[in-house]
Amino acid sequence: MTTCEYRPGLEGVPATQSSISYVDGQTGILEYRGIGIEEIAQQSSFLETAYLLIWGGLPTQQELEAFEHEVQYHRRLKYRIRDMMKCFPESGHPMDALQACAAALGLFHSRRELDDPTYVQAAVVRLLAKIPTMVAAFKMMRKGNDPVQPRDDLGYAANFLYMLNEQNPDPLEARIFDVCLILHAEHTINASTFSAMVTASTLTDPYAVIASAVGTLAGPLHGGANEAVIDMLQEIGSIENVRPYVEARIVNREKIMGFGHRVYKVKDPRARVLQGLAEQLFDKVGRDAYYDIALELEQVIEEKLGHKGIYPNVDFYSGLVYRKLGIPTDLFTPIFAIARVAGWLAHWKEQIGKNRIFRPTQIYEGPHNQAYLPLEKRLQLWDKS
Ligand code: SDX
Repeated sequence: MTTCEYRPGLEGVPATQSSISYVDGQTGILEYRGIGIEEIAQQSSFLETAYLLIWGGLPTQQELEAFEHEVQYHRRLKYRIRDMMKCFPESGHPMDALQACAAALGLFHSRRELDDPTYVQAAVVRLLAKIPTMVAAFKMMRKGNDPVQPRDDLGYAANFLYMLNEQNPDPLEARIFDVCLILHAEHTINASTFSAMVTASTLTDPYAVIASAVGTLAGPLHGGANEAVIDMLQEIGSIENVRPYVEARIVNREKIMGFGHRVYKVKDPRARVLQGLAEQLFDKVGRDAYYDIALELEQVIEEKLGHKGIYPNVDFYSGLVYRKLGIPTDLFTPIFAIARVAGWLAHWKEQIGKNRIFRPTQIYEGPHNQAYLPLEKRLQLWDKS
């Protein structure tokens, strides 16, 4: 077995063969099962998109209705999960709460009959159905309020918005939110999906797989960037401050949140659609001052970093949409997770269908044949840096 060249971050190294989604980073193409993301965003719904990603094809009317009904039926949480959430600290980050709840779900369904299609179907439905309820419940309970029970008469996106504040969501806002979920559902072998695959390859339960992926998505270089973008726009504060801010970040070699991508070297196609959604919302409910700062930021970054292929990614405009929908900033990444559960489950299913446990190698750079030094002879302090 020859070891191939080491690539930091496994950049450009295939980790699997997959037919779930496709990205062309040079031309800004994203396809789900071969269908362009723009068309799916325009024509589909999140649950139909989840079905496409997970089961590999668009459902018939009957299949879609059955799937929607099954997911709707499983939205509620067991009281033990809610009671567990009552013990979480109010100051805790919702992504940590979500990771704990996703793992806890496995306690109630610990059979691991991955070759049983009914087990797989049940896990897919439960996770898609319950993750939004967990996010909304934590948002209410951390302030000492009772969680809002799901409403069976509302669709997937509308029900989530309802559970956040117990108000009937505006149909346009619910549709825009549903499209945001579509855009965030899947993106080939990103860090959290790779986490899901590695965890899946040990044949553990799907709840542990999703908990593993949630923990990975939380980082600011990945799903956590959407929250960081709003904090950044707030810090910049005005259009006049954009250029000095960017120049300082570049001099200090600090990354600018919401920009750059390992694969896209042009503007992320999802950012284009999200920008359109933001403008639709602004037409309806009024413009957001942060949007003007964001537009100026995009222009200055293109001028200064466009030559490096640094353009807006999916996280740059999503936060502006969620903010206009009245969603708290620290729920932006959990919303990313709600959507990406579809992609993680699709890759879980694909992985266990042709599994080989992940076990990469390394290039060893340490010493050999070292003597064990007795404690009394270890006189100098060990440099821990
Ligand atoms: C997501 O993989 C996916 O598909 C992820 C995702 C998905 O749907 O799952 O698309 C979602 O995670 C989007 C990315 C969200 N993260 C951010 O917005 C954080 C800021 N972005 C960067 O941290 C960065 O762009 C990454 C992490 C996204 C990609 O980093 P890479 O591929 O490892 O790039 P790099 O760090 O090697 O940088 C290459 C060059 C460097 O300059 P040089 O040292 O060569 O001179 O580009 C520069 C970097 O300094 N650069 C940036 C930058 N991103 C890269 N400079 C300023 N600001 C940035 N954001």
